[in-house]
Amino acid sequence: MSDDNKDTAGRPGPRERVIGTPSPAREKALLAEDDISAPAGVGDQLDEASAKRAERIVATLFLVAFAASVAFIAYFIGWSGRDGGMHGVSRARESNLWLGGLMALSFLALAFGVTIWVRRLMTSKPIVQERHELAADEETRAAFTEDFLEGADDSGITKRPLLRRTLLLAAAPLGLAPLVLLRDLGPLPEKRLRHTYWGEAVKKAQAEGKKGARLVVDGTNKPLRVSDFSSPGSMITVLPEGIEEELPEDQVLTQNAKAVTILINIPADQFKPAKGRENWHVNGIVAYSKVCTHVGCPAALYEQTTHHILCPCHQSTFDATDAAKVIFGPAARSLPQLPLSVEDGYLIATSDYHEPVGPSFWERG
Ligand code: FES
Repeated sequence: MSDDNKDTAGRPGPRERVIGTPSPAREKALLAEDDISAPAGVGDQLDEASAKRAERIVATLFLVAFAASVAFIAYFIGWSGRDGGMHGVSRARESNLWLGGLMALSFLALAFGVTIWVRRLMTSKPIVQERHELAADEETRAAFTEDFLEGADDSGITKRPLLRRTLLLAAAPLGLAPLVLLRDLGPLPEKRLRHTYWGEAVKKAQAEGKKGARLVVDGTNKPLRVSDFSSPGSMITVLPEGIEEELPEDQVLTQNAKAVTILINIPADQFKPAKGRENWHVNGIVAYSKVCTHVGCPAALYEQTTHHILCPCHQSTFDATDAAKVIFGPAARSLPQLPLSVEDGYLIATSDYHEPVGPSFWERG
């Protein structure tokens, strides 16, 4: 307590009230005035034997962090990418478990190591900090530099090369770990986004002497006759015949998601076939990709009275009577149309979509 705080009789007066925190120079003066001593057990003099023990523990934790980070990278490159990558729900779960577990272990080991270092190897003293003008004065800067150097010296980072090196070792692969995640941006899709299973189904059907691939109802897998879909204003989801039976199990979901198509029966007096697509419909029955051209949600809502197809995600709206052109919302392109025909009374597709389905992507050109 400073003499300024004593009353006229020399008794200690009320303590000076400090609003905020003082500057480093003023802080030193205050500490001297208040004579704040370090808590018992910590101080300038560390017990060297226990410090050595703590140092070994900290170094071990840093080595664990290093090993976990390296294992993260090794797993990512060596295991999670095996057999065609991390696709599929069970593969994603397995890799999430391992990658997440290893990353967590690395961060935990690093955090425990730093905590033990601070608590067991550094002296403890109250630190106060004052809000100050952005441009500090010379005295403050000098005091800060002094504090900083004292703190650096106190942390032992200069005196304990083992800790310094193992910390750097632990931090290096941890810093690289997020970079290897960039690998998930590849491989490039190349031509795979340009085609759907409709193309393959049509080729197979034509190889058997047919005109095209039959449309099957999503859910029942039953081929659809024109007579089954004769009420104007109806809408149904269809897929190419054979998609579930002929594809390997792990490809069915992906191919379904790309080939999924909505079939709409538009009254003849309201339908406006687009130029060059006059024969792509069957008595007003048209087929459009169900994958929204904005960011790929299923454009699954159909308004019978207006013949609008709505995407529930961001309200893009497409006009089913007019080549599924965008009339509202953020989508930039019409829904691609599938050319239809009839064979033996069944609705068929005569080719794949003529353009990529779904959102725009960098290779669309
Ligand atoms: S995904 Fe359809 S509007 Fe955004």
